Amino acid sequence: MSVNAQRKIAFVGSESYPFVKTGGLGDVMYALPRALIRQGCEVRVLMPYYNCIPQKFKDKMNFRGSFMMDLCQDGRAFFVGIMETELDGVIYDFIENREFFDWGNPYTGLWEDIPKFCFFSKAALAALNFLEWVPDIIHCHDWQAALVPVYLRTRFAPTPVGSARSILTIHNLRFQGICSIGHLKYWTGLPDYLFDYPVFKQNDDEANMFKGGLAYADRVTTVSATYAQEIQTTFYGEGLDGHLRYHKDKLHGIVNGIDVDIWNSETDELLPAPYSAADALEKKAQNKLALQEKLGLDEDPGKFMLGLVSRLTDQKGLDLVNAVFEELLDENTQVVILGTGDPRYEGAFRYYESQNKGSVCAYIQYNEALAHQIYASSDALMVPSLFEPCGLTQLIAMRYGTIPIVRETGGLKDTVAPYNEVTDEGNGFTFDRYEADLLLDAVRRAKALYLENRERWNEMVLRDMAKDVSWEKSAEEYLALYDELGTAN
Ligand code: ADP
Ligand code: GLC
Repeated sequence: MSVNAQRKIAFVGSESYPFVKTGGLGDVMYALPRALIRQGCEVRVLMPYYNCIPQKFKDKMNFRGSFMMDLCQDGRAFFVGIMETELDGVIYDFIENREFFDWGNPYTGLWEDIPKFCFFSKAALAALNFLEWVPDIIHCHDWQAALVPVYLRTRFAPTPVGSARSILTIHNLRFQGICSIGHLKYWTGLPDYLFDYPVFKQNDDEANMFKGGLAYADRVTTVSATYAQEIQTTFYGEGLDGHLRYHKDKLHGIVNGIDVDIWNSETDELLPAPYSAADALEKKAQNKLALQEKLGLDEDPGKFMLGLVSRLTDQKGLDLVNAVFEELLDENTQVVILGTGDPRYEGAFRYYESQNKGSVCAYIQYNEALAHQIYASSDALMVPSLFEPCGLTQLIAMRYGTIPIVRETGGLKDTVAPYNEVTDEGNGFTFDRYEADLLLDAVRRAKALYLENRERWNEMVLRDMAKDVSWEKSAEEYLALYDELGTAN
C-alpha cells in the first residue's frame, strides 16, 4: 500500500457542488476530493446542511447522530445534527442546525454569517470527534472555515481530533469575516489572548476571522502561484498583505483544475450537439446555431460569439466590459452574458441587450445548463478580471474549444498562455493593465484571427481542447503538502 493510501483528509467549507454552489469554491470542494480519492486518500467533506439543498439529495442522507455543543462566551449551547451521504466514494457530513442554516441561501449578510460560521467551524471539529474519525489533515476553505485551525490548536488540542494538522486555502481574499472584537469574542467563546494583533485583531475595534485562521493553520495555500505572490502586495492583499508576508514561508500557490467528467463536451448531456476534438469545429457551429435560436439572436453560425459567464461583481472586470461594450459590437459579433450579482451590471447588460436585439443577450440568472451551452457555443470567452485567484471559466472554455480572452492576473495569467502569432503558440488573448482599451484591443486581436485566419484559429481551438486542465497534477501537489505535515497519531 502506498503512503497515500493511509491519508485521511477532512474538507471543511461552506459550499460544494452538487448540493450548493454559488461559485468556483463549490466546484473545487466537489472535484478536489474526488481527485484525492483517485490518489488513494480517504476523504470526508463537512459542510452545512442548508435548507436550500435539493430534496433529492436530502432524501438520500442518513442521520448519523446529534449532540449539544457549547459555543458562546456565556456558555450558550447549540444543537448539532449530522446528516451523511456518499457520492462516488466521498463521504459528505452535513452539519445541521435550523437556527443557523434554515435560511434560503448559504450567505445572507455578515451579521448572520459570522455567528453561522463560528458555529459551523466548531461543530465540524466536534462532529469529527463524535464520528470518531480523526483525519491526518483538515483542509479548510476560505474565511467561513478559518476558525477551524484556531479551534484545533486551542479548545480541541486535548481532544482526539487535536492530533490533526490543518491547511487553510484562500479562494478569495476579498471576503474575510470582519466584525467587532466583542461580537467575535462572544460567538467564538475563545480566550482573550487570541484577540491580539498576531491573531484576530484587525484594528482597535475589529477582529478578522480569516486573519486568525491564516496565523494558526499549519500551511496556507491559494489557488494559483501568481495570486500567492500578488496577495503579498498592497494592491491585492486586501489589507492582509503584511500578515501574509509574515507567514510567507507556509504559503503555497497550487493552481485549480476542473472536473473533466462534468466538463466533457463529448458526454455533456446539456449540449444539443456533444463533440470531441475530431468534430469540434462542425459541432460547435451546430451548438451556436441552437443557442442563437434559443436566445433570440440572429441565426448565423458565421458570427463571432463572445461569451461571459460570471458572478456580476467588481472582481470580474465588468466595468471594463461596460466601458467598451458598444465598441465590442459590429455586424460580425454577438455577445452572450450569463450572470447575476450587482444590480448596476445587471441593469447595464440588460440595457445593451434592449439596444442591440439580435446581437446581444443578457441572461440574468444562475443557470447551469445555459452555462454549459455558452461554453460550447461561443468562439471566445471574456474574463477581464481585476483580480482572479484562479478562475475556472477560462479552464472550462479551453476544454470546450472556446478561446479565453483574459487579463494577466492570478490564475488567468498562470493558465492562459498568450497567443504568439510569430510562433503560432498559445491558448488565448491576454492584456496586462486594467484598462478598457486593452480589453478592446485583445478582443479585436481575437476577432481578427477568427475572421482572417480561420486555420490558425482552429488550430488554437484544438490546442486548447488538448490542454491538461484536470485536477491530477495539482492533487499531487496537495498530496505532497499533506505528506510534509505527516500522519496523525
Ligand atoms: P468565482 O468563484 O470567483 O465566481 P470561478 O471562475 O472560479 O469564479 O468559478 C465560477 C463558477 O461558477 C464556474 O463553474 C461557472 O461556470 C459558474 N457560474 C458563474 N456564474 C454562473 C451562472 N450565472 N450560471 C451558471 N454557472 C455560473
Ligand atoms: C474564488 C475565486 C476564483 C477561484 C475559485 C475557486 O471564488 O474568485 O478565482 O477559481 O474561488 O478556487
